[in-house]
Amino acid sequence: MTPEVLRTRNFGVDALAIIERAADAAIFERGEFRIGLSGGNTPRPVYEALARSQDAWEGWIFTFGDERCVPPDHPESNYRMVRETLLDLKPVPLGNILRIRGEEEPRLAAAEYEQELRRSCRNAPMYCHDLLLLGMGDDGHTASLFPGTEALGVTSSWAAANFVPRLNSWRVTLTLPVLNAARHVCFLVHSAGKEEMLRKVLAGDPAYPAARVRPEGGNLTWLIAE
Ligand code: 6PG
Repeated sequence: MTPEVLRTRNFGVDALAIIERAADAAIFERGEFRIGLSGGNTPRPVYEALARSQDAWEGWIFTFGDERCVPPDHPESNYRMVRETLLDLKPVPLGNILRIRGEEEPRLAAAEYEQELRRSCRNAPMYCHDLLLLGMGDDGHTASLFPGTEALGVTSSWAAANFVPRLNSWRVTLTLPVLNAARHVCFLVHSAGKEEMLRKVLAGDPAYPAARVRPEGGNLTWLIAE
């Protein structure tokens, strides 16, 4: 599959269109929309636009690509960022949100998250997101799969605890098999400061985790804000 690379000055509008198109198709075909949310700062305006645009969440199931190992109300928490920009603005039933419990011991949090994913997909052989939103760091990481870290090699679990030496901190992340099982992966990236890394990743350099996200049977979109 050839990645679709879209450069845009209307980042929020274009990202919202991708999300809503995927939601309409998934709910029409399967009655539910499994969307994986990216952390970091880039997605903030996208989630705010989604909150303004969407009136009901029937069938929407929210998961997280990764989480920092901090409490859910910590300034670094991805859940807190998503709560502030989306979940508090248009309340979503708690049962529709599969939160990574960053407040717990990392390995336990990863194991619990995997169990929640398995329950949510009724013990299917793999959790398949309809749309998985991801970001990319300036070092080519995605979710919390950082270059040279242990979780990159994890293929037997759907979620893993990952110590990130560069940050001297623990994270919990979805593993590559889950990322690559998505029906559609959409990277949301601001190009500022990341052009050189974007060039390497889009060229497929496996040294960078974001380049290893190539959904086997799915679509891959890079939405790049100019
Ligand atoms: C996280 C994210 C991470 C993020 C990139 C880009 O927990 O930080 O999941 O993968 O997407 O670091 O972050 P920015 O969007 O802030 O540049």
